[in-house]
Amino acid sequence: MRTVEWNEKIGAVRMIDQRLLPGEFRTVEYDDYHQVANAIRDMVVRGAPAIGAAAAFGLALAAKQDRSVRLGELRAYVLEAARLLQAARPTAVNLAWALERMLKVAASFQGGAADLRQAMLVEAQRIADEDVEINLRMARHGAALIQDGDTIIHHCNTGALATVDWGTALGVIHMAFEQGKRIHVLVDETRPRLQGARLTAWELQQYGIPYEIISDNAAGFFLSTGKVQRVFFGGDRMAANGDVANKIGTYMLALAAFDNGIPAYSVVPTSTIDLSLSHGGLIPIEERSQDEVLNIQAGGQPVHPQGAKARNPAFDVTPHRLLTAIVTENGVVYPPYEENLARVVKKGGS
Ligand code: MRU
Repeated sequence: MRTVEWNEKIGAVRMIDQRLLPGEFRTVEYDDYHQVANAIRDMVVRGAPAIGAAAAFGLALAAKQDRSVRLGELRAYVLEAARLLQAARPTAVNLAWALERMLKVAASFQGGAADLRQAMLVEAQRIADEDVEINLRMARHGAALIQDGDTIIHHCNTGALATVDWGTALGVIHMAFEQGKRIHVLVDETRPRLQGARLTAWELQQYGIPYEIISDNAAGFFLSTGKVQRVFFGGDRMAANGDVANKIGTYMLALAAFDNGIPAYSVVPTSTIDLSLSHGGLIPIEERSQDEVLNIQAGGQPVHPQGAKARNPAFDVTPHRLLTAIVTENGVVYPPYEENLARVVKKGGS
């Protein structure tokens, strides 16, 4: 099944509860957009494109929940719901991008309120379907960068679970493997939420792709051994100059790759590129609860002294100078990024 999808029978959005993986595969269904906003905030669903699609279905739900007969009233309700959904997670621009697309449908719609409800559901479904198609295009472009026998370091989870299906950076790796290339993946465990150890390892196991989990702070060591050929990660928001906000730890990984002359690639759909921001310093960085850092035990005991405090930025910004190339659905982009990114975004008409 898809990570996020519409269940027509009961008129609800269904998603895989990613908090439970790999121990348990369970799906949850929501028929209230408030629940969808909570699911995004609590990371039932996570990964930039997946939360974009979830928010789109959430807004379609909001339209369905509102009983207004007048178009203007329904529009106002939907706008309010979009604000709530948008506030759920601030860094991944796909969330705002998907909501904007949905609101455009609402704003330009000519007809009755009932028809607008249907039109919004159609648009949400289109966003979800396009995501899968876009990921496959990115995967084909990116797979050409991988050679038979490569060992690749991958950060966070960027696979089918982070998108509607297939994935971004992990989708590229998956495609190269399907093309018959022998690949070995070193999976950054990705503290503190462990998306690598829990989700990427789970996906790779299902695809039959050989992998080993490494602690995040081992990446520099492996890059310095000469036994890693490439580094792949996704992106939650990329500024116009190519600076990219991605899961915390990406910056250190990219620095270590650069220092060792290992190519590092960010794989992002054009919906992740925010041309309104000139550089990465303008990207809002989500800071999550300190409990995500502190709730760790060893031998049944907390690993920190009682009363310890922690900081938990969920993302960091990798400067574009550390990226060898950027993979999008419209092709592989090389420097100068400012010029070339604007061109690929335009090419898709986004
Ligand atoms: O906090 P998360 O798990 O939502 O963060 C996800 C990432 O950082 C991914 O690398 C990113 O969304 C790009 S892959 C689709």
